[in-house]
Amino acid sequence: MSNYTSEIERRRTFAIISHPDAGKTTLTEKFLLYGGAIAQAGVVKGKKNSRAATSDWMEIEKQRGISVTSSVMQFQYDGFCINILDTPGHQDFSEDTYRTLMAADSAVMVIDAAKGVEAQTRKLFKVCAMRDIPIFTFINKMDRESRDPFELCQELEKELGIDTYAVNWPIGCGKEFQGVYDRQRRKIIHFTSNSNAKAATATEVELDDPALADLIGQARRDQLADEVELLDGASCEFDMERVRHGKLSPVFFGSALTNFGVEPFLEDFLRMTTAPLPRQANGVVVDSFDPDFSAFVFKIQANMNKAHRDRIAFMRIVSGRFDADKEVYHVQGGRKLRLSRPQQLMAAEREMIEEAYAGDIIGVFDPGIFSIGDTLCAPGKKFAFDPIPTFAPEHFKRVRSRDTMKRKQFLKGMEQIAQEGAIQIFKTPYSGMEEVIVGVVGTLQFDVLDYRLKNEYGVDLYAEGLPYQFLRWIEHDGEEPLRAEDLTLPNDAMLVEDYKGNQLLLFASQWSINWTAERNQQLTLLEFGGARLS
Ligand code: G4P
Repeated sequence: MSNYTSEIERRRTFAIISHPDAGKTTLTEKFLLYGGAIAQAGVVKGKKNSRAATSDWMEIEKQRGISVTSSVMQFQYDGFCINILDTPGHQDFSEDTYRTLMAADSAVMVIDAAKGVEAQTRKLFKVCAMRDIPIFTFINKMDRESRDPFELCQELEKELGIDTYAVNWPIGCGKEFQGVYDRQRRKIIHFTSNSNAKAATATEVELDDPALADLIGQARRDQLADEVELLDGASCEFDMERVRHGKLSPVFFGSALTNFGVEPFLEDFLRMTTAPLPRQANGVVVDSFDPDFSAFVFKIQANMNKAHRDRIAFMRIVSGRFDADKEVYHVQGGRKLRLSRPQQLMAAEREMIEEAYAGDIIGVFDPGIFSIGDTLCAPGKKFAFDPIPTFAPEHFKRVRSRDTMKRKQFLKGMEQIAQEGAIQIFKTPYSGMEEVIVGVVGTLQFDVLDYRLKNEYGVDLYAEGLPYQFLRWIEHDGEEPLRAEDLTLPNDAMLVEDYKGNQLLLFASQWSINWTAERNQQLTLLEFGGARLS
């Protein structure tokens, strides 16, 4: 195998999702520890009160203890080069999660063993399911009193509508959590110590080895034998094809805090996942092993680091090798360019890079030329990856700067934050330069907007709530833009325009959408912008 193909072959790129506090950060940190990317626990996330999480860039995240934006980390483990995409743990940022999932080839869903499926798990899972990517479940916190493992698997199936296959099975929980039974290798991994901060020490025993009863006690051994029999008889068959299509989730039990079960999970996960997957561009499949470089932008983040005051565009390399010395073609911009200051991120630490391969995520300095969904490819090629769909906002406000002298900063901030995809902004034919209509998917995004405008642009916002809850993109036959007077609209609907000149309608109710559709047959009202979600 050439160096180039083996570099791609060894890459794995996945996103990690969880309800806040289920243990996503702790698990990520353990992966990084195993991979030698960090030297000690507590680097990624400190104690709550000094939550200096390296993956939480923004002040507001620290204050609220929620992860607002996603971050990216790379580490090496057992010959693999792994890219982890962290996702916001709050449903109000599920659009950000969706974009991040576009860059991932699989997802790890962390569940708290005492709580099972929680509100945000449901919401985030729904976003994962839209992409049909493989979803691996890690049931965490087995070192605490937890719910019955059968019940947890059933809940996953019932609540999320996905089949499960327990790859391993826990032996006890809480202080009695002694190990896991590896169903495929038919062995018990008995955890003996967690004195080492990095890894749990474990011994392996066969299920029918008489020594097992000495190790975990006769009663537990018998219970395990019964449970294994029940599992083998009653649960789904393991089917890799169904895993690959996101229909069957392999389930693992463990404790990120004590390291128990983390390494077996990581090893099986790496065995079950594939090298970087292809992506679609105008109906053509772009394969990861295609020697020509291609990538798409899935995230833009301004002012990530106040000291730098910069804007970074994150891209997922879809095919080939990125070489910092070579020019690439920016399809939407229609020109060749050299990507400026290409870097990979270890949470907030940035490292300049010379090369990267399909599956990798790189950040580049963006002077304001990139938009989410843009394609970069080798000069001479001119395809565009399928667009990343935009979610329809459900909350709207009319906003302006309290200080009219700050109009310029206000508009700049609004436009930059909108380009990041963190909010959507609109104007009406009558709105002047001083006010903007903002739409968000979740109301916490308003708080982030307010905070960022104040901190990054020095602007105090005045906001007024609007009654709209639905937005529809419009398609119509004519060439000319529509005028409100050409349409028959109910009182609670409004015609607006986004900053790319697309026309849209805002509605206060589903009823008025139907009413409008019936009376304006020349219009097609679309629920998603950019592209429809399948
Ligand atoms: P999140 O990123 O999903 O929000 O969760 P995070 O890893 O921050 O973990 C949330 C809390 O749960 C943390 O405790 C963490 O130590 C704890 N935790 C994570 N994994 C395990 C586990 O396997 N077992 C047990 N018992 N606890 C676990 P905290 O008190 O909120 O913070 P800290 O002061 O311990 O850092």
